[in-house]
Amino acid sequence: MTDTKDDNDNNHSTIQTVPVALGDRSYEILVGTGLLDVIGEHITPFLKQPRVFIVTEKTVFQHQGNRLKTALENANITAHWFTLEAGEATKSFDQYHSLACDLLGAGIERSDIILAFGGGVIGDLAGFAASSLLRGINFIQIPTTLLSQVDSSVGGKTGINTPFGKNLIGAFYQPKRVIIDTTTLNTLPLRELQAGYAEVVKYGLIDDPDFFTWLEENCDAVMAEKQGHNSSQLRIEAITHCCRAKARIVAADEREKGQRALLNLGHTFGHALEAECGYDGTILHGEAVAIGMIQALETSVRLGAANMKNRDRVIKHFKKIGMKTSAAEVDKPLNADALLQHMFKDKKVEAGEIGFILGDIGAASMQRGVNLDIIRSVLHDSIHAPR
Ligand code: NAD
Ligand code: GLY
Repeated sequence: MTDTKDDNDNNHSTIQTVPVALGDRSYEILVGTGLLDVIGEHITPFLKQPRVFIVTEKTVFQHQGNRLKTALENANITAHWFTLEAGEATKSFDQYHSLACDLLGAGIERSDIILAFGGGVIGDLAGFAASSLLRGINFIQIPTTLLSQVDSSVGGKTGINTPFGKNLIGAFYQPKRVIIDTTTLNTLPLRELQAGYAEVVKYGLIDDPDFFTWLEENCDAVMAEKQGHNSSQLRIEAITHCCRAKARIVAADEREKGQRALLNLGHTFGHALEAECGYDGTILHGEAVAIGMIQALETSVRLGAANMKNRDRVIKHFKKIGMKTSAAEVDKPLNADALLQHMFKDKKVEAGEIGFILGDIGAASMQRGVNLDIIRSVLHDSIHAPR
């Protein structure tokens, strides 16, 4: 975890390169500081002509747009901007249709490049537009939230939401490159940073107990709210480590036939919470995943598959970061049966049976046939936990 160096001469850190090995769809993830300001260097190899089509949203544009605009001007690259509303509602069929028409109306060609500049909402929507317009246009991910830098920008899952559930229309479509400038996180609200941190911890809990221990020791530096150009080495290390983990899993199981499902640790529980809250902002995706990971650990403890002390370590760690750890902290009346019903809509349901990702720290695996009375009691106790 210590292979990142500073280059103090230009205030930019050494760029970390993480390969995603997928045959002729292989690509690189670049991680560093200041990459946005010299974006021309990192995208030019993919341009057939000096122009890009940028899909972003208003909040990202407000905080980071000028950096990208200036960098493209400096590189003499013409930019066509498509700036949508911020928020999950943008990942809709209507927004997809309107974006598709706007891109086609602007004369996008199959050999052009779409830049997805934003968090997971923009990455998923722009990626899906790229996958489907003209039967496939190349795209590059420039993620600007912690969640999107460690998870959604890598691995090629793209899509939009439907009234029947999240991400139910989509495609596996890999980007040509992922460019992670960790300084974009300097303007991210703390609550969003905390939500993204859940996905960072997830990699430790899946199969990397040493990483979880490292996070216990270094979380203050990783999470410090505002980080200057040269003060975010531990954050870069953490993000790079997560990208390596995700790249390894995606390379082994791109289409989620097995191992990739482990990335859903905490998500079966978490998605149920999000669905019950109606995606109205009461709970963010990462917050729901954090609570879901605690519920998965509690289920594992009750099944004799995890140690109580380890469950308590994770709860203590999340509390230290200021994250929610139980459903009791969600500002909505909840009940266990309603949450359980949502779980039956999960993509891991097979022949009517829910697949749960369970296990101790660093030892997650998919379990089927779990006694639903145990799940119901875990949910009930989480809803009624002391706050
Ligand atoms: P998001 O894109 O909505 O961003 C969260 C908030 O941060 C928004 O309000 C946004 O405007 C703001 N923001 C983004 N970057 C900012 C910056 N640099 N400075 C200030 N504000 C900024 O949400 P997210 O958490 O990044 O992503 C959640 C989405 O990702 C969900 O739709 C989820 O389904 C999806 N997701 C996809 C995958 C995948 O593999 N494709 C994985 C996990 C999650
Ligand atoms: N975020 C889960 C996955 O990419 O598979």
